[in-house]
Amino acid sequence: EELTVIRKFEHIEHCLKRNVQAHTSNGFEDVHFVHMSLPEIDKDEIDLSVEFLGRKFDYPIFIAGMTGGTKGSQLAGKINKTLAQAAQELNIPMGVGSQRAMIRKPETWESYYVRDVAPDVFLVGNLGAPQFAETMPERYGIEEALKAVETIQADALAIHMNPLQESVQPEGDTQYRGVLKALAELKAEFPYPIIAKETGAGVSMEVAIRLESIGIDAIDVGGLGGTSWSGVEYYRAKDEIGKDLALRFWDWGIKTAISVAEVRYATELPIIATGGMRDGITMAKALAMGATFAGVALPLLRPAVKGDVEGVVKILRRYIEEIRNAMFLVGARNVEELRKVPLVITGFTREWLEQRIDLAEFLRARRRK
Ligand code: FNR
Repeated sequence: EELTVIRKFEHIEHCLKRNVQAHTSNGFEDVHFVHMSLPEIDKDEIDLSVEFLGRKFDYPIFIAGMTGGTKGSQLAGKINKTLAQAAQELNIPMGVGSQRAMIRKPETWESYYVRDVAPDVFLVGNLGAPQFAETMPERYGIEEALKAVETIQADALAIHMNPLQESVQPEGDTQYRGVLKALAELKAEFPYPIIAKETGAGVSMEVAIRLESIGIDAIDVGGLGGTSWSGVEYYRAKDEIGKDLALRFWDWGIKTAISVAEVRYATELPIIATGGMRDGITMAKALAMGATFAGVALPLLRPAVKGDVEGVVKILRRYIEEIRNAMFLVGARNVEELRKVPLVITGFTREWLEQRIDLAEFLRARRRK
């Protein structure tokens, strides 16, 4: 019973004190803009707003869900409220961390609740895909999904897909049978949008096509190249076997840049590009490849644990100014125009994509749309 709550703290502690990032990049170093010497726009006319699930946001950045599950205003609550105030200030969306703890211990609800400080934020609840598996005892269904969203007055629900993390964790939930069917049934009745999100190993086009076919509203690709959950589990592992397994899978997955290209190529779903997004040039590349948002988690954790709203805002404003600058240098007045600027894809990312999609057609088609 206490396990879920303790686990949360260990995760946050390791994320703050150790290097839990992938040892490999997220692939965007292989994606290149073509500099434009005559942008033919004024930098200060650039509009960074985006639309997503019927709402308009001022900037194309999404604060990815991280935590929740403590009582009252303790650590997790402080983190969420701090992130929420920053999201409210900038009019960008945010997610909370897994609400499994809240389903088990309803008294922890306040640690996910941010409406008091962020009345207008587009807020996304969070439950784990394995909880919907047919082999899961006390399997989740619409009741838990409604509870997750409505208790915190969220606008949408994220279902996190994390088979990598679960598979290298001794107490991991490695049941995944029947999840797609359960999500299809949930989607058919559920009155809120559902975002399927990975947590650091990326979404392939095959999975994206299935998610689109059951009516999922958006995908957060949560790709390889940022926080490694296998890395976090490496530090948590108690014995050599556990450490070896987590270390072996530290860099498992589909890089964020590749995942964005696959999902954009194969589906029409809105994309959140999360996983190792650490600067605005990289974020602009993700938007140019067709993402609606760049998502960020780990870099915001440090100011958030201190309750430093301005610290969170400062990091986000740096990203925003870098995105704006990149847009100026490719002559994109808004994100829609950014999606059409020429891109050159090289190296590993190109080699991968050439075997998976018609890369030339992908690059051409994004310019026609
Ligand atoms: C996460 N992430 C996460 N995702 C999720 O769906 N539910 C969760 O409970 C958590 N918890 C969590 C805690 C902490 C401390 C971190 C850093 C991250 C995953 C997160 O949303 C994101 O997908 C990945 O962290 C990749 O983004 P970054 O960290 O590379 O920017």
